[in-house]
Amino acid sequence: MNIVVIGTGYVGLVTGVCLSELGHNVTCIDIDEDKVNTLNKGISPIYEEGLTELLQKNIEAGNLDFTTDYKKGLKGKQMVYIAVGTPQGEDGSADLTYINKASKDIALNLENDIIIVTKSTVPVGTNEHIKELIKSNLIKNVHLKIASNPEFLRQGSAVYDTFNGDRIVIGSDDEEALEALEKVNAGFHLPIVKTDLRSAEMIKYASNAFLATKISFINEMANLSEKIGANIDHVAAGMGMDKRIGNAFLNAGIGYGGSCFPKDTRAIISIGKNVNYDMPILESVVDLNDRQRGIIVDKVADRFPDIKGKKVAVLGLAFKPNTDDMREAPSILVTEKLLEEGAVVNVYDPVASENAKSILSDELNYYSNIVDAIKGTDITIILTEWKEIKEFPLENYKEYMVEPVVFDGRNCYELEDASKSGLEYHSIGRPT
Ligand code: UGA
Repeated sequence: MNIVVIGTGYVGLVTGVCLSELGHNVTCIDIDEDKVNTLNKGISPIYEEGLTELLQKNIEAGNLDFTTDYKKGLKGKQMVYIAVGTPQGEDGSADLTYINKASKDIALNLENDIIIVTKSTVPVGTNEHIKELIKSNLIKNVHLKIASNPEFLRQGSAVYDTFNGDRIVIGSDDEEALEALEKVNAGFHLPIVKTDLRSAEMIKYASNAFLATKISFINEMANLSEKIGANIDHVAAGMGMDKRIGNAFLNAGIGYGGSCFPKDTRAIISIGKNVNYDMPILESVVDLNDRQRGIIVDKVADRFPDIKGKKVAVLGLAFKPNTDDMREAPSILVTEKLLEEGAVVNVYDPVASENAKSILSDELNYYSNIVDAIKGTDITIILTEWKEIKEFPLENYKEYMVEPVVFDGRNCYELEDASKSGLEYHSIGRPT
């Protein structure tokens, strides 16, 4: 199949590269010329495990190329995937500026019949809007079909997830479009859910909203467990063994961040508002998550009513491990609050420091390893469960810190190990 993908963000790029790996002939279009040039040389602008290898392999094989030229990219293609960003608008709804621009650019350059496939996360009904927008701007009399094919990739394991996902969802009100997409995806050998356009759009939001709910739920149980002397690790393990509940996404902590859950939960609430339907469960999920980010600072304040002048080390800045993404990372709020209270704040992250510098306060002191970051500090706060942080020996805190008090927002250490080490250790949802 001849395919063109619009947008080379993490979804578009991973989609294009993986489709070319299946043997399809793929061109990716992006408006950023520098990015296109770099990609054509086989250099990926984002870090995703396995991506560079597949990128280079398929460019060499002649299956994959990148261009800024819509006319060239669309020429002779049977499918166009739209994978541009849908950031959060000011009122919480999804901002469709990039979708609208891509749709118009497709219309103004399209010269043959095509199936439009939407990968971007878009509110229910947007696919119909895209089709109408393209139709009304066409310069040639061509035939359009539209389908929704939402993605379920996690940042950091997007290539793995593409080949090993639980399902592929394709939605269309056109039987031929469904069949064509089924063929394109056959090489992934994953279960395919075929449905109508609106249900496919809804599956994406409902899935992310459910996962976010699972996290806020376990965090609520963790907060209660702390107060009544239970251990959330044991509670989650006991709950997760019930197959109806499942053990994934039951890690208590300081809440979810990133570019997806915060944006998509607010967007689905906003979709509900548009049809006068309140969503009390999801409103609470979002509220609890907002509060959960600050919970670690509250714990510090309970233990140290005055942290003015105290030295604090913050370990982990990215919203989750294996990414340099700082979007909606709890570290934003935590470092801001610590500085407000007058603490001296050292920070360390294995990869996100450069991104963090453009977002966080200039008053933070950046370090290039854990030992230097914690040396001479009174308090250490763990915000991201990087492998390196989880494996950092507990004795080292005692050795390098002045007053070894550790607040762990991601439950990186076993409680027994922490208590054996003699460290003063506070975590989430477990006895101190
Ligand atoms: C998420 C979904 O997992 C993907 O299926 C989806 O495709 C993607 O959003 C998207 O819509 O594009 P992602 O945001 O990359 O992927 O990250 P996750 O690994 O799902 O983690 C999200 C947040 O939840 C992180 O802040 C993580 O720390 C937190 N989390 C996750 C918990 O606090 N506890 C858990 O048990 C699991």
